[in-house]
Amino acid sequence: MASISIRPPWMLPDRAVTPENIHRRRREFLRQLGFVGSGLAWGPSLLAQTPATNAPAAGPQEARRNPEFSPKLPLTPERIVTNYNNFYEFSTQKDRVAQLVGRFRTQPWSIWVGGLCAKPMTLSWDDLMKVAPLEERVYRFRCVEAWSMVVPWTGFPLSKLLAQVEPTSDARYVKFTTVLRPDEMPGVQRLSDYPWPYTEGLRMDEAMHPLALIATGLFGKPLPKQNGGPVRLVVPWKYGYKSIKSIVKIELVREQPDTLWNALAPNEYPFESNVEPNVPHPRWSQATERDLATGNRIPTLPYNGYADQVASLYPRK
Ligand code: MTE
Repeated sequence: MASISIRPPWMLPDRAVTPENIHRRRREFLRQLGFVGSGLAWGPSLLAQTPATNAPAAGPQEARRNPEFSPKLPLTPERIVTNYNNFYEFSTQKDRVAQLVGRFRTQPWSIWVGGLCAKPMTLSWDDLMKVAPLEERVYRFRCVEAWSMVVPWTGFPLSKLLAQVEPTSDARYVKFTTVLRPDEMPGVQRLSDYPWPYTEGLRMDEAMHPLALIATGLFGKPLPKQNGGPVRLVVPWKYGYKSIKSIVKIELVREQPDTLWNALAPNEYPFESNVEPNVPHPRWSQATERDLATGNRIPTLPYNGYADQVASLYPRK
């Protein structure tokens, strides 16, 4: 994976189209990943996900707002949050994602949680809804591209889910994987050189931090597909690409896992990726951000405003 050298298109204008080089290298690329021939080398198949007997809730996700995790901030309008999306499996054009998710099936859904733990398990949607009471949290969300929003997520702490599988002391990292269904995801076909599936990771102590959220809704409704429905991660003190969407696999591992963006451009998308206004991206400043609600540029806060809660995780800084 690391040998693939592709310039990530983060800085392309929103409407720019990714070059089409695709079909020639696609088969070869999938073979390298193990998707052709013998199939996946690990875990459950992401291409043919284990059917669950039940489906994501259709109705509103009623959850009480948790004031401890909800600073009093004006919310970004729902229509912006749900129509300005980064979800490369569908499109690199933010305003196209919501239009392209129609064929993406999110029912039934299940998540496999395993690896270095005593009780690996596959959770059906109903199982997931029983992990912990749903709560609403208003989080700042800061993309590495220097735009930001404020979103009321519904969900529960990732730590509650991890506790269920009883991680062993060998587990030092958590690796997350997005579902991969090229037939339903036009962006996967278009960006055939990318090391799909989308993967991300956290250190174990980051994953156990109370701010790390498994989100199943926003604005009191089930999570829209374009925002990573039916279930995603939200890590508000890190750049948005760490908040992986449409998760089907969570694995406890010993070594720092590969992640899609880190594999593509390690110097631009490091594994840690905390929001750090004083550390510019190699191609742009991170000192300010565009507030999507107002269009104004505002200063970026260390750890995206969560320094009091998380700075102790990073004592060297
Ligand atoms: N997860 C997957 N599977 N694929 C993606 O392309 N984009 C990331 C992150 N999670 C992405 C993903 C990036 S770059 C950002 S900024 C956020 O999702 C965007 O989330 P939003 O569309 O809900 O605002």
